[in-house]
Amino acid sequence: MRGDNDQLASFWMPFTANRAYKANPRQLVSASGMYYRSSDGREILDGTAGLWCSNAGHCRPEIAEAIAKAASTLDFAPTFQLGHPLPFELAQRVAALMPDGLDRIFFTNSGSESVDSALKIALAIQRAKGQGTRTRLIGRERGYHGTGFGGITVGGLVNNRRVFSTLPGADHLRHTHDIGRNAFARGFPRHGAELADDLQRLVDLHGAETIAAVIVEPMAGSTGVLVPPVGYLQRLREICDRNGILLIFDEVITAFGRVGAPTASEAWGVTPDIITMAKGLTNAAVPMGAVAVKRELHDAVIDSVPGGIELFHGYTYSGHPLASAAGLATLDLYARDGLFDRANDLAAYWEDAAHGLKGRRHVIDIRTIGLVAGIELEPRPGAPTARAMELFHAAFDNGLLVRATGDIIALSPPLIVEKAQIDEMFGKLAELLETID
Ligand SMILES: Cc1ncc(COP(=O)(O)O)c(C=O)c1O
Repeated sequence: MRGDNDQLASFWMPFTANRAYKANPRQLVSASGMYYRSSDGREILDGTAGLWCSNAGHCRPEIAEAIAKAASTLDFAPTFQLGHPLPFELAQRVAALMPDGLDRIFFTNSGSESVDSALKIALAIQRAKGQGTRTRLIGRERGYHGTGFGGITVGGLVNNRRVFSTLPGADHLRHTHDIGRNAFARGFPRHGAELADDLQRLVDLHGAETIAAVIVEPMAGSTGVLVPPVGYLQRLREICDRNGILLIFDEVITAFGRVGAPTASEAWGVTPDIITMAKGLTNAAVPMGAVAVKRELHDAVIDSVPGGIELFHGYTYSGHPLASAAGLATLDLYARDGLFDRANDLAAYWEDAAHGLKGRRHVIDIRTIGLVAGIELEPRPGAPTARAMELFHAAFDNGLLVRATGDIIALSPPLIVEKAQIDEMFGKLAELLETID
């Protein structure tokens, strides 16, 4: 044994400053509804639905029971050339929540897998349509699409890319973040629709016949809550249509009620060709992701192959029984408790509460949409990101879980949040901002 914290040494933690964490570990040991409990016995109000994922709140008995039942009935069965009932049922239920036409569902185990699957499916669709020269994938600066090689290739966060090689032939749109013109916007910022024309410029640069798909988060969450400018997504859709490019919306964060509807696509009236999802699909109780594909595009792939396997892609755990059971129970809860409408109904209250932080020390922008808020802090000179990280730690020590990303504090509570809890979140942040240098 080499010191007190050796018991923490073996777990190489993801996206974590391992040395700093292990020197001062903060652990969660249980959860219920809106609260976590820490290892030192404190209640922590969950301002982030875990990691944007436990939309129905924690440890819902209906989900736990469904998982337990599946585990003792059919713990695992393959879905390669064989099947079991739950993923078929879940696929139909997910399809019913998607925008019209996107009713073919491919299951994965995470957001990253959903993204890489969607990119591969896009390439398969283009080839099936006789457009095999279309291999280029377009992402966006500041985009986050998980950590697979496909995801980091189209992603736009430098730290996720610089150490790793990415796939050839990709390109990026500029990001839409513009505090100069849009600071303290409520909902969609007014300026920036013209940034969608970057896609046309890439068409003019590379040739439409080389571009398979463009992928964006309708609202970029992990990179600090970047809400699309008015008209931006519509313009992307038009340029895709004109140029035979598939439009993929990465809805890993926005699907399942986060912006007051089953998907951002439906909430905001822009229909992509492919949607990726994960997180809220199972309330995060069992890992699962999915890709929804327009029926005619799915059919193009299926019909292009005369016999045998049509898409050489999949995971051992695609449609896993426990995940499928959790998904079905989760979708039942969302419907029974009307949680997507609830998020919609609470959005105005949420927006007012978040924007109440305007004028507080260090706050240079606040962005809100649905039940999401991004509070951007002035970076500390010479120490970017330190201020938000200190606020994250101070909040945790004061019983509130928020998310720090760069110099931005992001909030995205479970959709069961009460108004008093919203007041508590922003009230605590207001106090703590005064204590941070
Ligand atoms: C938009 C988006 N895509 C993909 C991912 C990756 O999901 P996972 O961490 O489940 O692989 C995330 C995770 O936050 C995300 O926000």
